Amino acid sequence: MQTEPAPEMDYFAALAALEWQLEMGADEAILDAPLNRYDLPDSAPAAAPRPQSPSAPAAAMPAVLDQAAADPVALARAAAGAAADLPALAQAIADFDLCDLKKGARSMVFADGNPAARVMVIGEAPGREEDLAGKPFVGPAGHLLDRMFAAIGLSRAAPDAGAALYITNVLPWRPPGNRAPNAAEIDMMRPFLARHVELADPDFLVLMGNPACQAALGQTGIAKLRGQWAEAFGRPALPMTHPAYLLRMPLAKREAWADLLDLRARLDAV
Ligand code: URA
Repeated sequence: MQTEPAPEMDYFAALAALEWQLEMGADEAILDAPLNRYDLPDSAPAAAPRPQSPSAPAAAMPAVLDQAAADPVALARAAAGAAADLPALAQAIADFDLCDLKKGARSMVFADGNPAARVMVIGEAPGREEDLAGKPFVGPAGHLLDRMFAAIGLSRAAPDAGAALYITNVLPWRPPGNRAPNAAEIDMMRPFLARHVELADPDFLVLMGNPACQAALGQTGIAKLRGQWAEAFGRPALPMTHPAYLLRMPLAKREAWADLLDLRARLDAV
């Protein structure tokens, strides 16, 4: 079938089309030219049948099918619990194949800063910059986060545990288009987060935004939760508004500053 050549776009139409794609979350070019996948021949190989014969030994089933058949949260709990230290936990997450976000991400973003820090910050999920760098909070929100904690004498670069910061996220893989993590993703990755906190063993947690509160406290509503100390993973946790929100709503910085001072006072008291 002959197709009409696409009419030439003017500059403004092309810019509007690009902006629309960004809004939809398509913020990276995968190929040099667009590919219409509906035009491709249907050549996908049929899926291999699972062994049916009762004589087929269970051990012959590929590990990936075994994983898929099991409860992902239970598998995450088992994998996290078996990790004896932080490098083993990072490896266990890298090996965990049941979260679909892994397929679309470039990097597994585990943590940054000093694992001996008294304060551990839990964010939401990597964004574009974090996915490229393989480190949490390295984009604009991360720069603000660094300035916020520097104002109370804490830094992810500090070698001394008392002045240090340790930073991770609820999800280690970037959700497409930076959408918010969904409940299934948070539930699936929570056992890894719980073990991460247990192994790093900070004195205080800071929960940045709703997904962190959902994962750590089972609650959302950051406008009400912020500034109210709670207990998460067996230690004091302070919910705060996420720096990305503070970039959009600078007026909320006043409350965030009060929360930081409260954290500083707790650190100084113990
Ligand atoms: N926002 C987050 O919550 N985490 C990151 O790592 C970056 C931005």
